[in-house]
Amino acid sequence: MVNYIDAATAPLKNTGAIRLYGPEAFEGMRKASQLTARCLDELASIVKPGVTTDAIDRFVFEFGMDNGALPATLNYRGYTKSCCTSINHVVCHGIPNDKPLREGDIINIDVTYVLDGWHGDSSRMYPVGEIKRAAERLLEVTYECLMRGIAAVRPGARTGAIGEAIQTYAEAERCSVVRDFCGHGIGKLFHDSPNILHYGRADEGPELREGMIFTIEPMINLGRPHVKVLSDGWTAVTRDRSLTAQYEHAVGVTATGCEIFTLSPAGIDRPGLPPLRG
Ligand code: MF3
Ligand code: CO
Ligand code: CO
Repeated sequence: MVNYIDAATAPLKNTGAIRLYGPEAFEGMRKASQLTARCLDELASIVKPGVTTDAIDRFVFEFGMDNGALPATLNYRGYTKSCCTSINHVVCHGIPNDKPLREGDIINIDVTYVLDGWHGDSSRMYPVGEIKRAAERLLEVTYECLMRGIAAVRPGARTGAIGEAIQTYAEAERCSVVRDFCGHGIGKLFHDSPNILHYGRADEGPELREGMIFTIEPMINLGRPHVKVLSDGWTAVTRDRSLTAQYEHAVGVTATGCEIFTLSPAGIDRPGLPPLRG
């Protein structure tokens, strides 16, 4: 049983109903998301061996401040950092710290800015110096999973079509899909209905309608899909310590497909490109 509700009149809490947004909301999401995308663009020339994830976190905080935005993760459910930094076998929600990045690491940086009340949520993978071919392939597969999921978005399809597109491709590439975390509705709330599973079948889940806004953020492993959360209560790692990757975009459903709010203005939100000169 799914309810769809006009986002303009619905209460600002997750009641399980799926909000349908109008043009003003799309404009708000565009602005917040483009700020996040610009930050992720800047990070491409900051990530290198020797840089700490705390330094990355500071950059994310200050870039937000300079642009009138707050990181949504700051003091979110006890989380105290401005972004998540997930390295190698860390699936998601890695906490920035004072350890320097090392040549060959792969790192996901996940940023969510709140601008004028709207949440711009996106993450990308960054290679640290030269990385192994297996790691490079994982980034390519994971990015392709995200884009195939996005390509499945259109009114009338179900959320399961996104999951099916992602799972089918990942498993054909002998990778596995993490089940424990999903994409989510987003807007004035950080995490809202619906859940967007990154696995499943096209005939499952609620029907997509024009005006829905959500993230797609597949986590793909080279090994088995299972994860565990460390004793810090946040850091999720692969149980078999295999390499894992994630890319995330926020999208809005349009009459014919979807708009990707978090696309890189510099065109560098995909793997295999050299960093921009800072
Ligand atoms: N940005 C993450 C997401 O894609 C959520 C991070 S919540 C935190 O949904 F508390 F771990 F930061
Ligand atoms: Co995110
Ligand atoms: Co998200």
